[in-house]
Formats: sequence, C-alpha cells, structure tokens
Amino acid sequence: MTEHAPLPQRPQRPRRSCLAVPGSSERFLAKAQGLEADMVFLDLEDACAPLAKEGARHAIVKALNEGEWGGTTRVVRVNDWTTHWTYRDVVTVVEGAGASLDCLMLPKVQDAAQVRALDLLLTQIEKTMGLPVGRIGIEAQIENARGLVNVDEIAAASPRLETIVFGPADFMASINMKSLVVGEQPPGYPADAYHYILMRILMAARAHDLQAIDGPYLQIRNADGFREVALRSAALGFDGKWVLHPDQIAAANEIFSPSQEDYDHAELILDAYAHTTSAEGGARGAAMLGDEMIDEASRKMALVVAAKGRAAGLSRTSAFQPPAS
Ligand code: GLV
Ligand code: MG
Repeated sequence: MTEHAPLPQRPQRPRRSCLAVPGSSERFLAKAQGLEADMVFLDLEDACAPLAKEGARHAIVKALNEGEWGGTTRVVRVNDWTTHWTYRDVVTVVEGAGASLDCLMLPKVQDAAQVRALDLLLTQIEKTMGLPVGRIGIEAQIENARGLVNVDEIAAASPRLETIVFGPADFMASINMKSLVVGEQPPGYPADAYHYILMRILMAARAHDLQAIDGPYLQIRNADGFREVALRSAALGFDGKWVLHPDQIAAANEIFSPSQEDYDHAELILDAYAHTTSAEGGARGAAMLGDEMIDEASRKMALVVAAKGRAAGLSRTSAFQPPAS
C-alpha cells in the first residue's frame, strides 16, 4: 500500500476463536461453515502436504466464493516466504476470491520486509482485480526467535496488519524448548516458560493498535488443558486463540469474553463517570461507584471491557442509579 493512502482504520473484527481448517480437505472446508468460531483460517501451510497445495488453492477459492460463511472473518494462511509456494498461494487465492476474503495470514515472519513484500503483492493484485486497495488485511505469525526479536518492526510494517499471532509449535522447535506438548510448560522449569514470549508479542501488538492472538493447543481431547492455556493468554490481555476442533470453540468464546459480572461493572463505571463529569453531576473529574473511586484511567479500562462484552453480545443486567444529591 506504499503508493496509496491507507484505509482510515482497519475493521475491528472479533477473533476470540480462530478455527484452523486444512485447505486440502473439502469435507473440513464444508464443515467449518456454520460453526460459532469468530474467524476461520483456511490453511495452505502446515496442514497441507506439499503435493496437495495446488489442489488446496483451488478448493479454498471455491469454498470462499460459494460457501455460506455468515459474519465469520475469512482468512487464508499462505506459505512463508522461504518456500517457493507463497506467491502462487497469494495470486491464486486473491485473484480467485479476493472479494470474499478478509485477511491473509503470513506464517514464520522474521522481519518487516517479509510483511512489506506481501503488502506490495496484494496492492498489485487488488489494482488488477478492481478491488479497493487495502481491502485484504494481514495477520503476522511470530514462530521463531528472529521473528520475536524483530516483532516491533514487524508490527509497524504495514497498515494492512490486523493481528500478531503466536505460533507455539514452531516457536518451541526454534528455541529448542524441552517439551513436545505444544503450549504446555516444559518439565523442570519452575515458572511460566511462555510469559516473556506472550508479553513481548502483546506489547508490540498494543503499541501498534493490533490484536494479539494465541496459537494452537494440540491436545484436542484435553478440555481442561485447553482452558488452562487459554486462560493464561486471556488473563494477560490477548484477544483470542486458535481452535483446532469444534469442541474448543465455545470455551475460547467464553474465555476471551468478559464475564457477565465484569461487563456489568464496566458499564456502571462508564455511566458513573459520564454522570459525575456532566454539568448535572457537578462536572467533577472523579466519581464514586459504591466504595470505588473512578477516574479517567478507570474509564479507559472499562471502555475495553464494555466493548468486548458488547461485541460478544452480552446485555446489561444492572442499571446505573445516580447518587441522590
Ligand atoms: C502454529 O502455526 C504453530 O506453529 O504453533
Ligand atoms: Mg507454525
């Protein structure tokens, strides 16, 4: 998008649950439609064997154009730039189905130049196909040590970027972490082995107004394990997590939404602050909500929780009562 003004703001899309769908399986491409995931990504990378990639590109184009995706965010994961597949993935999918596609996911991003290369290629295809320049967003996966070291410049690399995504399986291999259970703590380490990585990604994402998404948990039958790992990144502030099986969708949607209690509380804070700072409420800068003092910083925190709750479809269960003056 270097030759064109960026879109004023990228759409804010919910991504509490991001469902992985192998692009080479027509059965899974069909089954993914109608599930409750906020986002699907149709995969041309690691879920697709090398000999299946060409066929998968066409299956994905067909599924995007002819499928019933409702309001689900539609993403395709292409192969990374160190392979010879990337350009054909992008050209085939965006020329074939660019109007039915929201973002491309670029795996194993190592530096800002790799994001810019995708941005330039997308601009050419959008112009050729008569699509608005900037229509297709980019999700950048951080999956190795070099990507993490460069994550700040990666997050600033293109106005098309919407998310930074952690890829734990490739990342664990990249740093030689001593565990084969993706997302779980390596035995023998007394603290959270993922804390630094998750925080590093979260800081880069937030500094550039991007979403931060946690990657997969591969033990798909272990519901408790999924919850534990998802709660860890949700607690830090991540916006969502990959799901590999329909059974993980409801848990991700719940864990990455605020609780009813927190949502109600956030709306009450916003009302109390609005009332107190209004002329009617005395035009004061700080409010009381019960025993709690509310100021501009509390309002900002409440805004985040309220926005997430509204996006998740929650409704208020308590109304604000202005204090008697
Ligand atoms: C996802 O791509 C991962 O490597 O975990
Ligand atoms: Mg990976």
